[in-house]
Amino acid sequence: MPSINHFQKRSLLIEQLNAEKKVGKTIGFVPTMGALHQGHLSLVEQAKKECDIVVVSIYVNPLQFNNPNDLKNYPRSLANDFSLLSNHGNIIVFCPSFDDVFPNGEEQYTLNVGEIANLLEGHYRPGHFTGVIKVVNALFNLIKPNKAYFGNKDYQQVLIVKKMVQILGQDVKIIACPTHRSKNGLAMSSRNALLSEQEGREAALIYEALKLCKEKINSLSPAELKAEASSLFENGPLKLEYLEIVSADELVPINNWEQKSICCIAAYCGKVRLIDNLMLN
Ligand code: PAF
Repeated sequence: MPSINHFQKRSLLIEQLNAEKKVGKTIGFVPTMGALHQGHLSLVEQAKKECDIVVVSIYVNPLQFNNPNDLKNYPRSLANDFSLLSNHGNIIVFCPSFDDVFPNGEEQYTLNVGEIANLLEGHYRPGHFTGVIKVVNALFNLIKPNKAYFGNKDYQQVLIVKKMVQILGQDVKIIACPTHRSKNGLAMSSRNALLSEQEGREAALIYEALKLCKEKINSLSPAELKAEASSLFENGPLKLEYLEIVSADELVPINNWEQKSICCIAAYCGKVRLIDNLMLN
């Protein structure tokens, strides 16, 4: 019978994990902010395949929100999260308080992961990645996982977490997993819970724009493609914040298709800010 082992206190979690590690068990970690969906559950499934013990954290990290209203409105559905996870076998769920994540208060360091933290999401959400790094680093230090699982929908986050691990010399393998999509192509995201039915339909335009980019890569330059895909948003229901065609490693704008490239989009659907991306070549 699958069961969930639920911890709130860091000391109790550490005790349990130390006992598991002592007998040679490997730990897979899925950090989340809750409001779980199929994308998260696919990370859990992947972790279950590759590790003996799976830890899922559910913690809405205030440090990564640059907008207090966004933090206030972020969807929370703990009871449903537990019920979804209980269908996925024996899992350790960690739902900490701020003090359990940061027992010494908010650490004041800023880890320099390079220019990548200032581009795209970093540009439009100042301080966002500093907050992500602080919480992921704190959770890694606490859980000491062998592998940690992240969704490629937050592609820039994946690159930044990989840089953090490299700079800090942390002994954890970062596994990036594919984006899950609804039938209409909308990338699964906790924030989708905030969309009305109509907005959910309208938000499919983001994936339409990404697909257009992929389809036309052989006939248009990156600049032409950016202009054509961006024009899909003109006079439409979504407000485009950015649509960038950039290199897949450093996320800098490209002039030709010689390197691996990705299209990244952020757009507002009503009040809800959505992001998505698609590898183009
Ligand atoms: O991707 C997320 O949900 C969050 O940024 C993460 C990795 C759980 C850190 O709060």
